Amino acid sequence: MKKIIIANWKMNPTKLADAKKIIEGTKKIAKKSLSDIVVCPPFPYINLLSGSKRPFLGAQNMSFEKEGAFTGEVSAAQLYSLGVQYVIVGHSERRAMGETSEVVAKKACAAIQSRISPIICIGEKERNQNAEHWQEIKWQLVDSLQGVNKTNIKKCVIAYEPVWAIGKKSVGPMNPADVAESAIFIKKVLAEMFGPQIAEGVRIVYGGSVDGKSSKDIMRAGGVSGFLVGRASLKPKEFEEIVLACSAK
Ligand code: PGA
Repeated sequence: MKKIIIANWKMNPTKLADAKKIIEGTKKIAKKSLSDIVVCPPFPYINLLSGSKRPFLGAQNMSFEKEGAFTGEVSAAQLYSLGVQYVIVGHSERRAMGETSEVVAKKACAAIQSRISPIICIGEKERNQNAEHWQEIKWQLVDSLQGVNKTNIKKCVIAYEPVWAIGKKSVGPMNPADVAESAIFIKKVLAEMFGPQIAEGVRIVYGGSVDGKSSKDIMRAGGVSGFLVGRASLKPKEFEEIVLACSAK
């Protein structure tokens, strides 16, 4: 399966000039890569990559509404008209702001309708001895895919991001064996929903403190088709290592 590496810049960088620099660096990396590279800049910088395929242009969020009186919102059709091909939905930082799986599902369906591939984020808040995280992952996945059918699921990317592994204050990346276990579990739930053959074709990526080093270990043993990268995507050198890890045999 073709690998995919998604750069989630979040609300960075502060200045346009810096955004341009990161884009230049990322373009060089994407040109050489056999994987799909997707850059999701904040909305003000989206135009810098309009219509680009190397890397693909992605967005970090969108509205499920089509058009009209929704101040501050951005529609899938608007994104598509700028050449956006992917959109992140249900990132844990947005779920923390109140985005429910029901809303995530509506956004995913609206994206698909506008020919944009949704990157649907799921992941447990914590792990404890009662192993409740499996239920949490399962219901997030099932509820976030309401309305997605057997044809459309092929356009989706599932980003597994344990919340406790995301960001500067986290404990760091999940270990590869646990990533593999989660990827198998997600595939099993997808198989129950869409059948094993279709589930096999859905790309599952890992996110949470991915850097050059951890990407190699997780790519080797984590059973995923790529990464969703936050902080390291702002540093082209580090990002290149992650991209290279995905092309190693
Ligand atoms: P991080 O963020 O790589 O900075 O941990 C990942 C994400 O939130 O997508």
